[in-house]
Amino acid sequence: MAVSTWKARNWKKALPGIIGDLIQVSEPPLKHLYIIITSTFKNIKMKKKIVVLGATGTVGSKITEVLLNEEQYVTVIARRTEKLEKFRKMGAEIIAGDVSDVQLLTNAFSRAYSAFLILPDNPMAENTRAYQRQVTSNLIQAIENSGIKHIVNMSSVGSHMHEGNGMMAGTGEQEVRLNQLKDVNVLHLRSAYFMENFLRIMGMVKKMGFHGTVADGDHAIPMVATKDVAEVAAMHLVNLDFTGKRVHAVMGPRNYTYRELTTIIGKAIGIPDLHYVQIPAEQARQTFLSNGFSADFVTNLIEMGTAIQSGFMNYQKRDASTTTPTTAEAFVNDVYLPAYNR
Ligand SMILES: NC(=O)c1ccc[n+]([C@@H]2O[C@H](COP(=O)([O-])OP(=O)(O)OC[C@H]3O[C@@H](n4cnc5c(N)ncnc54)[C@H](OP(=O)(O)O)[C@@H]3O)[C@@H](O)[C@H]2O)c1
Repeated sequence: MAVSTWKARNWKKALPGIIGDLIQVSEPPLKHLYIIITSTFKNIKMKKKIVVLGATGTVGSKITEVLLNEEQYVTVIARRTEKLEKFRKMGAEIIAGDVSDVQLLTNAFSRAYSAFLILPDNPMAENTRAYQRQVTSNLIQAIENSGIKHIVNMSSVGSHMHEGNGMMAGTGEQEVRLNQLKDVNVLHLRSAYFMENFLRIMGMVKKMGFHGTVADGDHAIPMVATKDVAEVAAMHLVNLDFTGKRVHAVMGPRNYTYRELTTIIGKAIGIPDLHYVQIPAEQARQTFLSNGFSADFVTNLIEMGTAIQSGFMNYQKRDASTTTPTTAEAFVNDVYLPAYNR
């Protein structure tokens, strides 16, 4: 159900209550006014807040925009206030803080209708899995303390496996641990590879004239524009159309290879022979290390990329419920090209 349809239905639900209260009033004007006010507040209170963690990130910012455009009450969390400010201007409550602060998360989740969670990357963590486990523990503690009942958890395709998949071993473990929560409905959004990842290696195209990662260039995997992930997340956060523990894979319009995406981007930017290079793992490791990433984080990144050949990112079934509309061509035209030309 679309967000706007949900809103319309809730107003329809609220309206008979208000009218009913008004009709029953036949006493002095003051009581009349009192009933109108309490009835209106009772119905306004039905619309609770929705919390978005990682609200300034690639996915979280788009979810927040969808929710605010739909006039939902939204509380947004990230560390840097200056990046959150634009959402305050759009009407959100902003909370600047770290996922290590359980009290802050508890306060944010309290009286919330639903919350979107992410397990943010920490490129400096000496032990990636230990960091991920600690964040998951904090989130679980805050969920239990606050009594929130609906969680949309950002996960990834490949999170069904718990080793040999780098970062996704952490999102996989987070899924399993959230599944142990009693009386909390949890929906895991297993997203495909973000098309936005190609924005992160745009510098390579500009400086070196090719695209490169450690992944096999000819292995097709699901790739998705994050605006589609955000639409799906926002729909679940508003509609609360899930009970128990569920997985919803969000897989883009079809599978693509890195080489195909490179060709699509090359054509759009006027370099039709732009080519894809599979970078040797050791070379990539040195580059990441020279950028200040921890050795363990780099190991996780490289494991995730090289394991693509095993097919672990092709586990989720593609059907109408997991396929989303934005094609790579549309993404390149609407998002990549403007960023390239800036
Ligand atoms: N990239 C992919 O292809 C892909 C595919 C599937 C799933 N995923 C999943 O997507 C998630 C990442 O989402 P994203 O790309 O939207 O993230 P992102 O762009 O890296 O943004 C991270 C967000 O979290 C905030 N944040 C970071 N560290 C924080 C901390 N310690 N405490 C509080 N807030 C913090 C950031 O703001 P501040 O820095 O201001 O705090 C920002 O708002 C990961 O869990 C990953 O597994 C990624």
